Amino acid sequence: MRRRYPILRALAAQGIALALVALTAFLLVNFARVRLPWALLVLAQAGLAVGIGRRFGLTRWWGIFQALFLPALLGLNALALPPVAYLGAFLVVLLLNWNSFRHGVPLYLTSNAASLRLAELLREQAPEFRFIDLGCGLADPLCQLARLYPKARFTGVETAPLTFALAWLRALPRRNCRIRYRSLWRVPLAQYDVVYCFLSPLPMPALWQKAQAELRPGTWLISNTFGIPGVSPDQEIALADWRGTRLLVWKK
Ligand SMILES: C[S@@+](CC[C@H](N)C(=O)[O-])C[C@H]1O[C@@H](n2cnc3c(N)ncnc32)[C@H](O)[C@@H]1O
Repeated sequence: MRRRYPILRALAAQGIALALVALTAFLLVNFARVRLPWALLVLAQAGLAVGIGRRFGLTRWWGIFQALFLPALLGLNALALPPVAYLGAFLVVLLLNWNSFRHGVPLYLTSNAASLRLAELLREQAPEFRFIDLGCGLADPLCQLARLYPKARFTGVETAPLTFALAWLRALPRRNCRIRYRSLWRVPLAQYDVVYCFLSPLPMPALWQKAQAELRPGTWLISNTFGIPGVSPDQEIALADWRGTRLLVWKK
């Protein structure tokens, strides 16, 4: 549980923070006749949710969602939107982040700077190299790289339904880029020269096992930011961005 299902841990953190703040407010009103302003209570809940989330092992990124959750909920409530709008928004988020619940990998995108640095790295490859993005999201790096390396072949695999559909459409005009609806765990890796991923800490140990079993000698495994416990990369490139992006390269 500590490593799996971050959404459940995030929800638990929200619930505990809400309960603590509600209890404190209740005690203050009933025993000290002190009524705290709503804004302060919301702020306290957000801060507690972030802190408890960290104690539950959630990464820093989750802190942003944790802090914004209750204020966003109250803000939306104030807009008095029709219920169908909530259902629609929920479905969009669900279909984009399908893998968040089961695999602990939500959708976030490789930055432009990281894609450009990746492109620089790929200069060392032969012109017709084969590249796969495991969990290609909206295909940002794939489309950019496919344009920069017209002779190379790019593949993305994705299983979040809406994410896949958008990536597929984006890659459609690119002759050397294709997107497949397939789990990254079901893709044989032996045919690729470069395997790229930007996932989360959760799948990295299993991904390393898969890479060890399937990658040909000479293949590169590149992970955006997330390392493999106990396995140092052959190359590490730190980008000076707000996310603390690192490109970690293992050369088999
Ligand atoms: C953090 S995003 C990265 C997107 C893209 N690679 C990029 O760098 O912009 C990770 C993506 O992996 C997808 N994903 C997670 N588990 C997957 C699996 N088992 N098979 C295919 N895709 C998966 C998620 O749906 C998500 O879109």
